[in-house]
Amino acid sequence: MTNNTRNQKWELQSRVPPILGINYPIIQGAMSWLTDAQLVAEVSNAGGLGMLGPHAGQTTNPTSNEEVIERMRAEIRNVKALTNKPFAVPVMVSANPDMIPLMTNLLLDENVPVVLINGVDAELFKIFKAAGRKILCRPIDVTPENAREAQRLGADIIIATGFDEGGSLPSKPIGTFSITAQIAQAVSIPVLAAGGIADVNGVRAVFALGAEGVYAGTLFLATQESRMADNVKEMVVESNADKMLMFRSAFSFYRSLPTPFADKLVEMDKAGASTEEITNVLVGNQGMRVGMVEGNLEEGYISVGNGITYIHEIRSVRAVIEDVMRDFI
Ligand SMILES: Cc1cc2nc3c(=O)[nH]c(=O)nc-3n(C[C@H](O)[C@H](O)[C@H](O)COP(=O)(O)O)c2cc1C
Repeated sequence: MTNNTRNQKWELQSRVPPILGINYPIIQGAMSWLTDAQLVAEVSNAGGLGMLGPHAGQTTNPTSNEEVIERMRAEIRNVKALTNKPFAVPVMVSANPDMIPLMTNLLLDENVPVVLINGVDAELFKIFKAAGRKILCRPIDVTPENAREAQRLGADIIIATGFDEGGSLPSKPIGTFSITAQIAQAVSIPVLAAGGIADVNGVRAVFALGAEGVYAGTLFLATQESRMADNVKEMVVESNADKMLMFRSAFSFYRSLPTPFADKLVEMDKAGASTEEITNVLVGNQGMRVGMVEGNLEEGYISVGNGITYIHEIRSVRAVIEDVMRDFI
């Protein structure tokens, strides 16, 4: 890999660290099943902002809304036992709207300092603003209009997610470069870029487009502290973005590194299966957990972003942050 900006001196500035009370403008995004207390605390201890995700620390599906809440409460307390730095939790940890008031109360009760809202919901903004919490807004399909509305309602930071990301993809195939510049021009609050950023050049590139930091997922999966299975970490190190498969899902699309299970989903898509049928197979047997946490490629998939091209070794969270944030050290 050529790395022709590596030895240049860069001077980047960001309003994000003072807003969130962290050292470097990097947030580890929520990732279903994968972002547990250990990873989150490690990111926050290393100067970024860690974020718990759905099913944090779990190996089984919950059987009730109350169980989701009690599991998340326990994991929030695990984070607090491991770090005294700020961390974040998303409000929407399931597709079930009944969960939102329950999660809201939990995050208020547990004094979670930073919340992620995956949409522009005036009522939620009001509640968390009144409680003095910092709001990260990440509309799944971010546009200049919804970013401006989030700013008007009091979001502290907007996350602009491009089609290069891992996890459930935005419904429009707009790459991280295009969306970052568009959103940075639309609002005056800081914008973080998400999707495919996994090395220092990616960080510099999104700053050139107007971002003031990065929101990364895949980068943190390929670390010693992540609970992703070792065989999957090896696949990430050995693969490039051109190896990725893509198939439809309930929201829009998913990518996966090649696995027999992902092949099946691609085949279903090609054969004209309905989105519902594909989603039932995708989610029904917890394919993300089975593939990524258990490392079972026959029955699971490996959802990662295009940034895998730049991941060449498994390092500690701290080494990763100090490398990609070198312009702030
Ligand atoms: C395996 C995986 C699971 C994810 N699950 C969620 C999720 O449950 N909720 C969410 O808001 N974002 C989820 N994301 C998206 C991340 O929070 C983040 O936006 C994304 O990873 C950024 O792109 P990158 O992976 O290219 O860095 C997931 C991403 C990955 C890779």
